[in-house]
Amino acid sequence: MLLDLVKRARSFRRYDPTKAVSTDDLKEFVEAARLTPSAGNLQRLRYLALTEKSEVLTLTKEVKWAGYLTDWDGPSDDEAPAAYLILLSPESTGVSQIDVGIAAETILLSAAEKGVGGCMILNFPREALTERYNLAGKYKIELVISLGVPAEKVEIEEMKEGNVRYYRDQNDVHRVPKRALSEVFLTPDTI
Ligand SMILES: Cc1cc2nc3c(=O)[nH]c(=O)nc-3n(C[C@H](O)[C@H](O)[C@H](O)COP(=O)(O)O)c2cc1C
Repeated sequence: MLLDLVKRARSFRRYDPTKAVSTDDLKEFVEAARLTPSAGNLQRLRYLALTEKSEVLTLTKEVKWAGYLTDWDGPSDDEAPAAYLILLSPESTGVSQIDVGIAAETILLSAAEKGVGGCMILNFPREALTERYNLAGKYKIELVISLGVPAEKVEIEEMKEGNVRYYRDQNDVHRVPKRALSEVFLTPDTI
């Protein structure tokens, strides 16, 4: 069921480093993303795949993980993702942010179906990555997505008193508050 897949496709930030995510896996996720809707059917997004271990470890240290977990600096080398997909748009035109969101969630859903977890990361080192991958004059980085087989438990819970902050409980389970359906579903009478 799609709802089950959506529930499983959480943001995972700690991974099993012994489990690879291959280029073929990444192609499968991008295959799903490339078939999604885009504004004007322009399909401007491109997907840069990183699987080389040292590149992955470097980027893992550079991005900012889990802003609400103030006492955690992000995954160690033993918890690092297996791969990254970097979503790019043409530098000359950019892309609708709606397109980026559709593609990113499709990648996470496609990954979840295969037992792979990921995290969308907007807090990335734009200049360093642009230089490292010779993107200047060609592509703008829209979003970074980490991918790997999760080594942490992530659970959704009902939000209490409007507190949006995710946290880790005493059993090291990452808990993500979500607003109730009754709060987000509106009709003209309830607006
Ligand atoms: C546009 C966007 C940018 C995000 N950027 C980051 C980020 O820079 N670092 C990070 O650790 N998580 C990032 N996240 C993940 C969110 O923190 C996560 O979606 C949120 O905590 C809810 O958890 P869930 O995805 O499991 O529902 C981002 C998510 C979105 C949609």
